[in-house]
Amino acid sequence: MERTYIKDLKEKIGQEVRLDGWVTIRRDHGKLIFIDLRDATGMVQMVALPNHAEAHQIATTLRPEWVIEVTGMVNARPERMINKDELNGTVELELLSLTVLNEAQTPPFDIQADGRDVNDETRLKYRYLDLRRPRMQNNIRTRDRVVSFFRDYMHKNGFVEIETPIMMKGTPEGSREYVVPSRLENGKFYVLPQSPQQFKQLCMIAGFEKYFQIARCFRDEDTRGDRQPEFTQLDYEMSFVTQEDILQYTEEMFIELVTTLFPKKKISKTPFPRLTYAESMERYGSDKPDIRENKEDPDELAFAWVVDFPMFEKNKEGAITAAHHPFCSVKEEDMPKLVSGEDLYAIRANSYDLVLNGYELSSGSMRIHKADIQQRVFELLNISKEDQEKKFGHMIEAFKYGTPPHGGFAPGIDRLMMILQNEPNIREVIAFAKTGEGRDPMMNAPAEIDAAQLKELGLTIEEK
Ligand code: AMO
Repeated sequence: MERTYIKDLKEKIGQEVRLDGWVTIRRDHGKLIFIDLRDATGMVQMVALPNHAEAHQIATTLRPEWVIEVTGMVNARPERMINKDELNGTVELELLSLTVLNEAQTPPFDIQADGRDVNDETRLKYRYLDLRRPRMQNNIRTRDRVVSFFRDYMHKNGFVEIETPIMMKGTPEGSREYVVPSRLENGKFYVLPQSPQQFKQLCMIAGFEKYFQIARCFRDEDTRGDRQPEFTQLDYEMSFVTQEDILQYTEEMFIELVTTLFPKKKISKTPFPRLTYAESMERYGSDKPDIRENKEDPDELAFAWVVDFPMFEKNKEGAITAAHHPFCSVKEEDMPKLVSGEDLYAIRANSYDLVLNGYELSSGSMRIHKADIQQRVFELLNISKEDQEKKFGHMIEAFKYGTPPHGGFAPGIDRLMMILQNEPNIREVIAFAKTGEGRDPMMNAPAEIDAAQLKELGLTIEEK
C-alpha cells in the first residue's frame, strides 16, 4: 500500500491507509491503547483495539521515539472527542496492523518540551534529537520558507545567484579568519571568507550587474547570542545604482517578506525611519536603536535605517581602521578631507545599516570603484604599498578594467530568523549550531588530526 502523509489524513475518512513515523506517546486506557504518531507533516492519534489482536499486542510494547509502520482505518472522531485546535483533531486512526521498524533508547531529554530547561551542551550533543522538538522543527522550516522567499524575490528582480569560493586568500582584518593549510604548497594557507565582499565586487566588474548569494560566512571571533562562527548572509550587490535605489529595494523586500510570510506581525513604521549615525548616537547613544513602541509585544517589528557612518575609527590599540570595510566610498563633500588626509575621523562613508528591534540586521555601502581612490584609502589605513600589492593587488588591478559604480548590502539571515521567531539566541534558528565557545559537541569539533596528516600538511604542533 502507498504511504499516506499524516497531513493528508482528513481527506481519507473511511479509507484504509499506511503511515510511517515516530511514536510520540503511548497511553493505555484499559484495553484501549492510544498512540500519537508523527511524521514530518504532522501528528495523529491512533487507537489499538483488542479485536485486532496482533497489532494490539505489539502496541503494548511501544515506547516513545520508536519508528513504526502501520495500516489502519481513518475514522471520524465522535463529536465529543473532536479537538478543533489540532491538525487531525477530527479524525483518529484505528490500527489494523503494526510493524516496528526500529526501536529507540529513551532520549536524554523531553523532545516534546521547548528545551529551555536543558543545558545547551546537551542539546547540541544530541542535536538530531533536539531538532525533533516542535519548536525547532518550526524554526528550521520557517527559515527554509524565508530563504526561499528571498531567492524568488531576487530572481524576480533580475539578480543572478553566483557561488563564490569558500577557500580564498587572507584579507585585512586577518586576525578573525579561519585558516586552511595547503597540502600541495606546504607553509601556505587558504582562509575562509568573512563575507564574499571582494568576490561580489568582482562580479560587478565581470558585468553581472545584479548578484546575490545565500552566502556562508566564517569569522573567528568571540561568540555571543547574536553571533556564531559560521553564519549566513543574504548577500547582494548592484551596478549603476544609487544608495537610494539599494535602500528602496531592500525596504520593499522586507515589507513583502513580512506581509506574505508573517502576516500577524506589524511593522511599526513605514517608510522605515532614517537616522544619520550622528543623530542615532546623540538620540539613543547607540548605532542600533531599538525604536519599538512596545518592547513586550512579540509581533512588533521596528526597522530603522542608520546612514552616514564614519569611514574610519580607532581600534582598541588606538590605530586607524575602516569602520565598516576599506571598500566603502566616502561622501562627495568629505572627499577633500580624504585627499588632504586631514580630519580623517570626520569623514563620512556612503554606508548604511538596517536595524531591527535593536539588532544590527545588515550593513552595506556604495563602494569605491576607482583604483586611485581605493589606493588612497589603503594608504590612509597605513597599509604599506607592498602589503597593498600583496593583499589587494588583484582588486586594484581589476578596478582599472572598466569598473561600474556599484554598491550592496548583506542582511544576516540567522539574526533575522532569531528576531522573527522571537528566539533569544541565533543557535535556535541554525540546525547544527556551535556552542558559545565555538565547539560542536556532537561531532566534537574542533579536534586533533593525526600525525600523518600533519606531516603531509607540513605542520608541527607546539606543545602548550
Ligand atoms: P557585516 O560584517 O556588517 O557586513 O555583516 C553583515 C551582517 O551579517 C550578520 N553577521 C553575523 N551574523 C551571525 N554571526 C556573526 N558572527 C555575524 N557577523 C555578521 C549581521 C550583519 O549585520 N560584506 C559586508 C556587507 C556589505 O558591505 O555589503 C559585511 O559582511 O546581520
